[in-house]
Amino acid sequence: MESPFTAPGTLRVFFHDCMVEGCDASVLISSNPYNKAERDAEINLSLPGDAFDLIVRAKTALEINCPGVVSCSDILAYATRQLVVMTGGPYYKVPLGRKDGLVSQATLVEGNLPRTNMTMDQIISIFEKKGFSVQEMVALNGAHTIGVSHCSEFKDRIFGYNSPSGYDPALHPKFAERLRQNCANYSTDPTRATFNDVRSTKDFDNMYFKNLRLGLGLLQSDHALFTNPRTRPFVDLYADNQTAFFETFSLAMEKLNVLQVKTGKDGEIRRRCDSFNTMNIN
Ligand code: HEM
Repeated sequence: MESPFTAPGTLRVFFHDCMVEGCDASVLISSNPYNKAERDAEINLSLPGDAFDLIVRAKTALEINCPGVVSCSDILAYATRQLVVMTGGPYYKVPLGRKDGLVSQATLVEGNLPRTNMTMDQIISIFEKKGFSVQEMVALNGAHTIGVSHCSEFKDRIFGYNSPSGYDPALHPKFAERLRQNCANYSTDPTRATFNDVRSTKDFDNMYFKNLRLGLGLLQSDHALFTNPRTRPFVDLYADNQTAFFETFSLAMEKLNVLQVKTGKDGEIRRRCDSFNTMNIN
């Protein structure tokens, strides 16, 4: 049923949903002439269609068998956990009974999601505002052990970098060369992408942290976890100890799962995941 892109795609969609207005499936809403929804915020445009398709399929099956009972936000949370486990990652608890949110606005996204070119202090502060410690933030970034990044997200590290080689000297030279080859046509082919974890592309493991020590971290923010003194101790811990990584990742995912969850009249059980039950014209 799912492609190799489904697990990472769904995990990223879940993260982007929870960080903005809580885990309420607000990211699944489609824009309409009256409302530019979260999904159309610039940072969300690369969220992969696979993940949205998965939720639609699950919702359709559930609505046929027990209509009006399971929210889209519960489906997204549950599917994410199942896919993390299927790729080899840890099991964590997913409490169910969330309602779907009644608001989804692109303008609410900015400032709630990290960007690769932010300073580590800025990234830490984004996570702190949602209740995550530095250690939990580092563990959550371990999600980059699966999935891909588009060349546009790391182009500045490999082309025209102000250094003798023209690439970020923090990158392993062979890795930098491979990235350059792979991304050579990225401006004419914006779909060009590379695995986040070059050494174990599809397995949910601690290789991502081992990679960071070798200059094999893909995004600027990945590598920054290794250079920053506040985050480096946790990179070292998780590179040496997968169990420790899984423990913190599970705890942090349990926290992420209950961020600003909607219940009662604050939400609804959507009939379709991409639109509210009643159209709001604001
Ligand atoms: C410093 C924090 C973070 C930054 C700056 C960041 C940024 C990014 C970027 C730029 C991509 C590539 C998107 C693309 O080109 O399609 C990506 C991919 C991904 N991110 Fe993050 N991310 C961060 C933290 C997280 C966290 C906490 C999670 C989940 C718990 C996560 C899950 C993922 C996954 C699974 C992918 C692969 C998506 C796919 O294959 O479609 N990221 N991230």
